[in-house]
Amino acid sequence: FLVEKGNHRHFMAKEMHEQPEVVSHTLAHYLDLAAETVQLEADLPFDFTGLERISIAACGTAYYAGLIAKYWFEQIARLPVEIDVASEFRYREAPLPKNGLAIVISQSGETADTLASLRYAKQEGQKVMAVVNVPTSTIARESDAVMPTLAGPEIGVASTKAFTCQLATLAAVAVAAGRARGVLTPERERELVRALVEVPRLMNEALRLGPQIEGLARSFAKSQDVLYLGRSTSYPLALEGALKLKEISYIHAEGYAAGELKHGPIALIDEKMPVVVIAPHDQVFDKTMSNMQEVAARGGRIILLTDARGAAEAGIDTEATLVLPEMNPLVTPLVYAIPIQLIAYHTAVQMGTDVDQPRNLAKSVTVE
Ligand code: AGP
Repeated sequence: FLVEKGNHRHFMAKEMHEQPEVVSHTLAHYLDLAAETVQLEADLPFDFTGLERISIAACGTAYYAGLIAKYWFEQIARLPVEIDVASEFRYREAPLPKNGLAIVISQSGETADTLASLRYAKQEGQKVMAVVNVPTSTIARESDAVMPTLAGPEIGVASTKAFTCQLATLAAVAVAAGRARGVLTPERERELVRALVEVPRLMNEALRLGPQIEGLARSFAKSQDVLYLGRSTSYPLALEGALKLKEISYIHAEGYAAGELKHGPIALIDEKMPVVVIAPHDQVFDKTMSNMQEVAARGGRIILLTDARGAAEAGIDTEATLVLPEMNPLVTPLVYAIPIQLIAYHTAVQMGTDVDQPRNLAKSVTVE
């Protein structure tokens, strides 16, 4: 069916702005809002309590959603997770545990490497759960359990709303796993569910950073390279930020775990390169700040993404500080994804690239 851009200039812009609504839909599917609990609708063909390990395989942005989910499953459900890009997972001949669950994540549900990973996992006796946006897709059909992301059709090649809906779904699954494994008290579950329910409102607030980011994009568009740094769940988001910028603006970018800075990438820092530091005021904030200090000491141009507390405590001159609302650390990746996407979008618009159909890329990679 026909999907229109409405009054947006690009599908990507439309899809970024749809996020509060579609994430809210996705959450409503997995949460019991009245009881403030998670209620996975699917009848699961496995039991979280007996699981030894989860293996996750996906590509590109879906892989980064999986990396974020790894932190959640480990912290919230005390469930060990191994994760790999699907093109490696399918050929690695990894031994998989007897009582194992594999999770594949895909917007299209047709990505060749992800589908091959699913088949490998099944062959190795794993139960397979698919987090997919297209419910009629091959990956959905071949999986034992399907967790739909209710993002609606995503047209822009750069994934935006599918990513945040994947995160919403995976967060709900992690909370369900935590409850099933007796790790979460009912109180803690309620607290996490409440944090998730807040996300659409927080996303709307984050979208208001648009004009500030549009200004910033003018200087990004003159850069040759951009570095993204973060710790904990902000680390996969740094990877996602770099991917988004590369794919639509063609500017070279890299994402790093902030703690890796002094193991190499710090050599790149000069007064020309923007360094995007993703640092909500969470349990690793101080650590990220000391890395940011290292960038500042070498004359790096810092663009800090944080909240009011973080901005007040940072104590370092930045080129720009994007201030987001304060929130439960569980949900920062969902909300901080918005400025990350807006930076890539506005930079690409400045560069005059084909935002929705970037060169050399296909929306769905159905061949190896
Ligand atoms: C994201 O912006 C990309 N275009 C790409 O990395 C994408 O996420 C990847 O190809 C996976 O696609 P899928 O979710 O349809 O499996």
